[in-house]
Amino acid sequence: MKKYKIFTSTARNLTPYLNQELLSLGFKELSILNTGVFLEAPFDDIMRLNLSLHSANHIFLLVKEFNCDSPDELYKQVVNIEWENLIFEDGYVSIFSNVSNPTIRDSRFANLKCKDAIVDRLVKIKGKRPDSGPLRDKTVIYLYWIDKRCAIYIDTSGESLSKRGYRKISLKAPLQETLASGIILATNWQGKTHFVNPMCGSGTLAIEAAFMALNRAPSILRKNFGFMHTKFYNAATFEEIKKEIRKKENKNINQKIMATDIDKYAIEAAYKNACLAQVENYIEFKTCDFRQTPMPQPPGIIVINPEYGIRLGDINELENLYKEMGDFLKQKCSGFTAYIFSGNISLLKKVGLKSQKKIIFYNGDIECRLYEYSLYEGSKRAPRLTTEHRQE
Ligand SMILES: C[S@@+](CC[C@H](N)C(=O)[O-])C[C@H]1O[C@@H](n2cnc3c(N)ncnc32)[C@H](O)[C@@H]1O
Repeated sequence: MKKYKIFTSTARNLTPYLNQELLSLGFKELSILNTGVFLEAPFDDIMRLNLSLHSANHIFLLVKEFNCDSPDELYKQVVNIEWENLIFEDGYVSIFSNVSNPTIRDSRFANLKCKDAIVDRLVKIKGKRPDSGPLRDKTVIYLYWIDKRCAIYIDTSGESLSKRGYRKISLKAPLQETLASGIILATNWQGKTHFVNPMCGSGTLAIEAAFMALNRAPSILRKNFGFMHTKFYNAATFEEIKKEIRKKENKNINQKIMATDIDKYAIEAAYKNACLAQVENYIEFKTCDFRQTPMPQPPGIIVINPEYGIRLGDINELENLYKEMGDFLKQKCSGFTAYIFSGNISLLKKVGLKSQKKIIFYNGDIECRLYEYSLYEGSKRAPRLTTEHRQE
């Protein structure tokens, strides 16, 4: 089977976890960048990866690479690609790009050149032209042109894989689904122990955790992918692949996945989202203050994504909230490993516990940290810090 060079992209700094996912699916990387991983795969595997990867945003299939120094050269190179064998002349095509070349002032001009070349080629060979526009739900072409290096890809995902389709009800500051997955992968949780998510908001972390515990491909319910709008696609093969993937799902899980929030509308939204994701039977929901979260017997992990004041919440109130989170973790969660994900380091310092690990992530443009706290039991108990001795 012919192999294609592909680039699986993810949010900045999530590549180690994406690569770990690829390795566990049996893929070996060609190279790793800060925003993704290059590898080779046949088209069937490209479909599998779109369905299965938790932390990838897009899977790009490389069509052509070349050196390019002008918009005219771009046109010449793109018009020579055999588009008639790749995409439909009566379809719909959109072009997205990342361009930084001195001959281009506005990347939309490069997109237009690319689109003209594709359309002109199809009109010449097939006598028909596809529609074009900004929608991402049909054929999506991605142009990467930095300095002289130019590459043309088909975006086999189309819409970002982070749009799993289950989050119909979104509340304030939800995490992107792929980032939520990346956070869970970074905890190294294997889906075998309890997963507790106080302050769950719209339930993204708990739903993504349920996918992992069930060994469920996170995009299995998605109805549309960019690859469906290419000539590589065969619907029967895709159905076979989905069946084969679903056979590997666990039918049941023994550990608890818990999602709590003080806001009853958040819990309603989280429950509805879990229903759409078809994981509502694997998550226990409760409306309560985080301090009242009924903790199961350890071992397990607690993952909290509190507000952090850049987009929400008043800083003084938040300082208090973070101190109380520290107290809750110390007093009620021994035996667990806790993780707090926040975009505000000063607030994280108010937690007052010594963190064993600090990982930098990006939530959009906001630099965030995931802090890990081991909450030992009995003789291994971590020294308790009084308010006066909190880490600053
Ligand atoms: C940043 S949002 C969480 C977003 C979530 N990760 C998602 O993807 O939707 C923080 C959540 O904390 C909840 N919250 C704030 N104070 C709380 C408290 N004292 N106890 C429990 N939940 C609280 C809010 O209602 C809000 O839903």
